[in-house]
Amino acid sequence: MTMRTSLASWQALAEHAQEMQQQHMSDLFSQDQARFNKFSIQLPNMLLDYSKNLVTSATMQKLIALANECDITTWRDKMFQGERINRTEDRAVLHTALRNREKMPLMLDGENITDSVESALAKMKAFSEQVRHGLWKGYSGKRITDVVNIGVGGSNLGPQMVTEALKQYSDGSVNVHYVSNVDGTQIANVLRPLDPEKVLFIVSSKTFTTTETMTNAKTAVKWLVSSSFDEKAVAKHFVAVSANKDNAMEFGIAQENIFDMWDWVGGRFSLWSAIGLPIAIDLGFDKFIELLEGAHEIDQHFCQAPLAHNAPVILALLSVWNCTFLGAKSQAILPYDQSLHMLCAYMQQAEMESNGKSVTWQGNDVDYPTVPSIWGGLGINGQHAFYQYLHQSNNVVPADFIGSVKSVTPVKGHHQTLMSNFFAQTQALMSGVDEQQVKADLKAKGRTQQYIDKVAPHKVHKGNRPTNSILMQRISPRTLGSLIALYEHKIFVQGIVLQICSFDQWGVELGKGLANDIQKELDENKVNKNHDSSTRGLIHYYLNCV
Ligand code: F6P
Repeated sequence: MTMRTSLASWQALAEHAQEMQQQHMSDLFSQDQARFNKFSIQLPNMLLDYSKNLVTSATMQKLIALANECDITTWRDKMFQGERINRTEDRAVLHTALRNREKMPLMLDGENITDSVESALAKMKAFSEQVRHGLWKGYSGKRITDVVNIGVGGSNLGPQMVTEALKQYSDGSVNVHYVSNVDGTQIANVLRPLDPEKVLFIVSSKTFTTTETMTNAKTAVKWLVSSSFDEKAVAKHFVAVSANKDNAMEFGIAQENIFDMWDWVGGRFSLWSAIGLPIAIDLGFDKFIELLEGAHEIDQHFCQAPLAHNAPVILALLSVWNCTFLGAKSQAILPYDQSLHMLCAYMQQAEMESNGKSVTWQGNDVDYPTVPSIWGGLGINGQHAFYQYLHQSNNVVPADFIGSVKSVTPVKGHHQTLMSNFFAQTQALMSGVDEQQVKADLKAKGRTQQYIDKVAPHKVHKGNRPTNSILMQRISPRTLGSLIALYEHKIFVQGIVLQICSFDQWGVELGKGLANDIQKELDENKVNKNHDSSTRGLIHYYLNCV
């Protein structure tokens, strides 16, 4: 397997980066009025403008050459066809099969998984409609008014981000709540106003071993039984989504109330499976299908578009360019649509749990920066919180601005203001303002030379800060499905180019194991003397104060 850094295209990019770091984007725009047309991609429901990156046509050609030398299309086809590209766990990676709306047969280990997906969807449809139409009754015969999803990571972030984003599409027939944190405060706050006779719990856990989720689920059972005084009530108020049916049944979930998921779906890519039950219950099954259809549109684009016009490929290559070749250490996700207020949290797991690694497929340490840390938040709020950093710190932070042409909830005079900030901020980050202009502005405002000399250096914005602008027609189940799939495939391409396994997550195991050991010490009030002095000191302090 060729080491990436020995590839001719990699070396050409490293050399090209030296040249490009002497360039300023505002000059590139001045030199080419067609820059926007050259460096943007029009998709059915969204526009990707990547012209505000420090790239030229030569840069893009070199990046595409790298993609070709990394056999992106071959690896893409391997993924869609179910090859076990999750090498360390020896698993296929087939979240795309969950939204294969043509229902093409796909054989995996002798099974046509399209059939399995379709029967899982049919079960989701039946169940979500039963709950939404008041046909699923609690132990006292009352309809369900509230659903509480208990899960964490991919068993929480996907469904919660989607239902938060699509609130305007909910008819409110059932209230959906989420419990992910093992801090009892969260489940206490969620359960406090609820009526046990009318609550349905969905215990979402691919492994059905996650401590946080199991702890919350047990608390939920105690809460229910303490009011129903009947263990049998669990069968009417608990369902599970898991790949581990045995553990779910051992917990006490009736077999017929367990929704399958499979080991060929990674947790962070699982919202398209029965992990998406809260979405189907909140919005109705038809809208859940629209979400799948939106994702499928991007799957088709990813499989069919030439690399140079392939949005996920371009986003991935730009992230590699900005991080590995130009040295950016983080990347901001900045939605300018209130409905996407949880997008960044979702993207943090999707990107950083996938590619936050530093060992190649062969197990060698990588000798190049891999992916940036992902952070961000609602853009407008950020403008009054961290945009000072984006504009004037000496750390360049590439940013994805995500907005919509039409608001889902139009309020007169608001959307224009919102979007004027979107356009202004990406322009300001690109162009900046130099000292000459700053001084001229201050002079025109009648400032004294002394004031100008004092303040001008502090008002210079160097600019040359790269941004991608993603403009969606309007947030809807379909466009949101497309947006999420766009980033899923971007993450995939990044992993292939960087030669890291994007689909395991060994980095979460050490902390989990230590926590389980320390929990025993806390429970038994006995501190392991082999801990470092800090951990020992902290635990002693805690135990002495408990
Ligand atoms: O964070 C580690 C992780 O395994 C994630 O990959 C996963 O989404 C989450 O924990 C929850 O896992 P489970 O769905 O098995 O409870």
